[in-house]
Amino acid sequence: MTVSDAYSPPLFSIAPMMGWTDIHYRTLARLITKHAWLYTEMLAAETIVYQEDNLDSFLAYSPDQHPIVLQIGGRNLENLAKATRLANAYGYDEINFNCGCPSPKVSGRGCFGALLMLDPKFVGEAMSVIAANTNAAVTVKCRIGVDDHDSYNELCDFIHIISSLSPTKHFIIHSRKALLSGLSPSDNRRIPPLKYEFFFALLRDFPDLKFTINGGINSVVEADAALRSGAHGVMLGRAVYYNPWHTLGHVDTVIYGSPSSGITRRQVLEKYQVYGESVLGKYGKGRPNLRDIVRVMVYLSLDLLSSFPMIEAL
Ligand SMILES: Cc1cc2nc3c(=O)[nH]c(=O)nc-3n(C[C@H](O)[C@H](O)[C@H](O)COP(=O)(O)O)c2cc1C
Repeated sequence: MTVSDAYSPPLFSIAPMMGWTDIHYRTLARLITKHAWLYTEMLAAETIVYQEDNLDSFLAYSPDQHPIVLQIGGRNLENLAKATRLANAYGYDEINFNCGCPSPKVSGRGCFGALLMLDPKFVGEAMSVIAANTNAAVTVKCRIGVDDHDSYNELCDFIHIISSLSPTKHFIIHSRKALLSGLSPSDNRRIPPLKYEFFFALLRDFPDLKFTINGGINSVVEADAALRSGAHGVMLGRAVYYNPWHTLGHVDTVIYGSPSSGITRRQVLEKYQVYGESVLGKYGKGRPNLRDIVRVMVYLSLDLLSSFPMIEAL
């Protein structure tokens, strides 16, 4: 049996976020929740291929980060194949392909990310190539459309073509479209309206596939409600980054029905500090540096400070 045979979509996952969900953030998150699936930042296939001699600094993680998903991006089938093969040695639980990033660097110059929603045939081929080079499950993360290609029918075509051409059975749907010019990446996560009705229609129209809902979900209570409405999985990004304790702290109990670990926020910070000290400079002088490590603690602690009445009153 391969890993992918045993795969079922994560009930709760932390979204891939470039510059945010690095190994340090994931370490902190894993101290708070044992069950949430962790997605890496997107890595371009080319980065993996060209850094073949330096892969650990991009792909290594500690075993307690399982279940963990590598997100890759790219437009070149040969590089996608090679990158997946190189990553396979690291034992990720799932390889996710990025078809949702609207950043000009990715969808413009790089010609991948959300732009790929206009070329489902290529995505189907890419997913076949990725699947052929890994033991892990393969999934796609996408928007509900791009620019004027934003009808429900076009979204269905996208899903249908990819799932027919490749072994992809699970899609993560950031439930707003992307605009490929005129909006910054952060506006592209805020301005195009959320259309959850498209997501729920996919559940109805593709009963053999699995779908994870993403976009604008702010709490574990809302995540739980989405699961109860039929979503196979829920992915949260900004809410868990900005408010890790009050979101991730409830995932294991509310979503997975596990008993609370009882860990306190102080214990999380203490354990994280031990981790931080152990990895400072691991990949050479200043890699990582103190700032890289401390950055992800800020929201855990800010959150703590904001519960003090004096701070709240500021
Ligand atoms: C700083 C930042 C970086 C992101 N980087 C990625 C990325 O590398 N790959 C990706 O698929 N989505 C990326 N996203 C989008 C998120 O994965 C997610 O789809 C989006 O934030 C909507 O979910 P949310 O409303 O729960 O935050 C990023 C989002 C943020 C805020």
